[in-house]
Amino acid sequence: MSHILTEAEMAVQKEYIEKIRNIVESDKSCGKRRNACVVTYGCQQNEADSERIAGMLNAMGYSIVDKEADADLIIVNTCAVRDHAEKRALSITGGYNHLKAVNPDLIIGIGGCMVSQPAMSDKVKHSYPYIDFVFGTEKIYMVPEIIYTVISKDKRVFSANSGDAVVAEDIPVVRESNFKAWVSIMYGCNNFCTYCIVPYVRGRERSRRPEAIINEVQELVNEGYKEITLLGQNVNSYGKEFGDECDFADLLERICKIDGDYIIRFMTSHPKDASKKLIDVMAKEKHVAKHFHLPIQSGSDRLLKEMNRHYTLDQYLSLIDYMRSKMPDISISTDIIVGFPGETEEDFDDTLKVLEKVKYDMLFSFIYSKRDGTPAAKMDNQIEDSVKSERFSRLIKAQEVYAEENNKADVGKTLRVLCEGESKTNKDKLTGRTEGNKIVLFDGDISNKGKFVNIKITEGAAFALYGNIVE
Ligand code: SAH
Ligand code: SF4
Ligand code: F3S
Repeated sequence: MSHILTEAEMAVQKEYIEKIRNIVESDKSCGKRRNACVVTYGCQQNEADSERIAGMLNAMGYSIVDKEADADLIIVNTCAVRDHAEKRALSITGGYNHLKAVNPDLIIGIGGCMVSQPAMSDKVKHSYPYIDFVFGTEKIYMVPEIIYTVISKDKRVFSANSGDAVVAEDIPVVRESNFKAWVSIMYGCNNFCTYCIVPYVRGRERSRRPEAIINEVQELVNEGYKEITLLGQNVNSYGKEFGDECDFADLLERICKIDGDYIIRFMTSHPKDASKKLIDVMAKEKHVAKHFHLPIQSGSDRLLKEMNRHYTLDQYLSLIDYMRSKMPDISISTDIIVGFPGETEEDFDDTLKVLEKVKYDMLFSFIYSKRDGTPAAKMDNQIEDSVKSERFSRLIKAQEVYAEENNKADVGKTLRVLCEGESKTNKDKLTGRTEGNKIVLFDGDISNKGKFVNIKITEGAAFALYGNIVE
C-alpha cells in the first residue's frame, strides 16, 4: 500500500532544511561560497525530481548553479534504463574526484534510479570513497536529513530504496523553465515488462491525490505556465488505489476545468490500459494537446508476449484507429526496442510493418540493453550487437520516410506553437513545438519565448517543420 507522508513527517524534513540553512548562512557570513548543482540523466520523471531536489537545496540557502566546477554541493540524479546511461553517470561522477581535490569543502551525492537498488548503493559505497551520500528514488524527500547527517556528523550516508511506496507533498521546487512544467501524478511501476529495470528502481505504483495535482496545476496556470506535462510510468493506471473515485480520464477532465491559456500533455500511456474513455476526454477538451505517445515496443505478438506487455498488435492498432476516428489530426509517437532476446528477422519485419501501417509522427527507438535482475537478461537467446545495430539503422531509415511524409502534409497549415526560444542547432531561428509535439523552426524576435505563436508551415523535413509567424 502506498503511504502519503503526513504533514508531521514532512515537518521533520523542514526542520532539517532550517538546520542546514543556519549552517549554510553562517558559512556564507564567513565568506565561504555555498553553491549547489544538480546534474540530471534519464527521463522527464528524473527532471521533475531534480527540480524538487534543487528546490530543497535552494531552501537550505544554497544558490543553484549550472556548472559542477562552481558548486560546493553536487547531486547527480541518475538513470538505469540502459547500460549506456549507467556507464555515463559513473564515468562523470568519477571525474568529480578531481573537483574534490580543488575544493575540499565539496560534498557529492548520487540519487535516482541507478543507486536505488541496495547492491548498486553498496558498490558506490565501496568503490567511490569520495561520494558522500546516496539516495534512492523513494528517499528523495529525505534529502534534507541525509545532507544534515553528512554535514553535521561528517558521516557518509547510503540510503537505497527499501520498498516504501511513499508519496511526498509540499517539497519546495525550483523549476527549470517559467513556461513549461512537469507535474508527477504518480510514481513507480507495477508492470514488470521483462526487459525493464524501472519497476525495480522506482518501486510500486502509487498516485498523488487528485486535489494535490489540481492545486499544483492551478498554481502553475496562475503563474503563467503554458505547457504542463503530467508524468507517470503508466498514467492510465492513475488512481487505482482510490477505487472509482478518479481515474486518469477523470483527472484530466477535472484539470481541464481550470481556466487559462495553457495546454496539457501527459506521458506515458501503456497500450494495455489506454482507454476509449481517455481518448474521448482528449477529443473534447481543448486544453489537451493532440498528441499521443503510445509505446508499442515491438510489432510481433510473439515478442510482445515475451516482453510481458499484455496486448496484441490488433488491440494496439484498434486503439490507434479509434484515436484517429475521434481526432483526425492527432500526432502519434511510439517507443520501439530493437534486438530483444530471440527477435527473429520475421519479428523485426513485423515491427517495420507497423511503422508502415501507423505512419508515426515521431519514433523513439532503442537498442535492447541487458539489465541485471530483469527476466529478459536471463534469456539465453540474446541477439548479437552487430545484428541489433543493423536492425536499428534500418528502423530509423524506414521511419525517416514516414516522418517526412507526415511533416510535408503539414505544409500550408497554420499551427499553434509554444515558442521555446533560440534553436540550439540553428542560432538564427527560434524553435518551438506544435500541439502535436513536433519541432518547428521559424524567424522571429526572442520576446516570443514562452508565448504561443501561430506559425504557417512552409516546409516539412524528417525531424522538423519550418515556417513563419502569422497573426
Ligand atoms: N513507462 C514507459 C517507459 C519507460 S522507459 C512505458 O512503458 O512506455 C522508456 C523506454 O525505454 C521504453 O518505452 C522502452 O522502449 C525503453 N527501454 C526500457 N528498458 C529498456 C532496455 N532494457 N533496453 C532498451 N530499451 C529499453
Ligand atoms: Fe518499464 Fe514496462 Fe513499467 Fe514502462 S510499463 S516503466 S516499460 S516496466
Ligand atoms: Fe531512467 Fe529512471 Fe527514468 S531508469 S528512464 S530515470 S525512471
